Amino acid sequence: MSTVLYPGSFDPFHLGHLDVVEQAAELFGTVVVAVMHNPDKPSGLLSTDQRMEIAAASCAHLPGVTVRAFPGLAVDAAQSANADFIVKGLRTSGDFEIEQQMAHTNFAVSGVRTVYVPCQPQFGYVSSRFIRDVAQHGGDVSSMLPPAATQALARIFTPRSK
Ligand code: PNS
Repeated sequence: MSTVLYPGSFDPFHLGHLDVVEQAAELFGTVVVAVMHNPDKPSGLLSTDQRMEIAAASCAHLPGVTVRAFPGLAVDAAQSANADFIVKGLRTSGDFEIEQQMAHTNFAVSGVRTVYVPCQPQFGYVSSRFIRDVAQHGGDVSSMLPPAATQALARIFTPRSK
């Protein structure tokens, strides 16, 4: 078995992310979910602590999975976590274009390889960016989120009554 790093912004962690973590845990054994952040330029909706809390609560049923925050580069996080590979989820060909460029860059600068996990078809449309957009306008995003994320977003935004 291997140790893999699953880096992302996770703003918020959604069911597509959980699917990738579950598949990676089954395939590789040990998964470090890496909440990547830039302490000098905090950005996005949720704080790093909130992102970590949601991801940790959502992965609590998976014994080989830990959640950590890392500043800087994903390849440095992989080295610091003693990861054998970086894992990324793929939804669409658009994801592939972006991920392939990152995978090649990461390999060129560090020798760390990236392994892709295809998401299950029912999560192919789920995206943190659209979840943030809908949630900020009070829409119901609970069908795309683990319960911990739904609860956290409900504390921040007032859900619109149906
Ligand atoms: O969930 P996202 O936003 O698609 O994740 C992108 C992320 C955080 C994995 C990517 O931006 C990243 O690896 N950031 C860390 C900085 C880094 O390593 N940059 C060089 C990428 S080639």
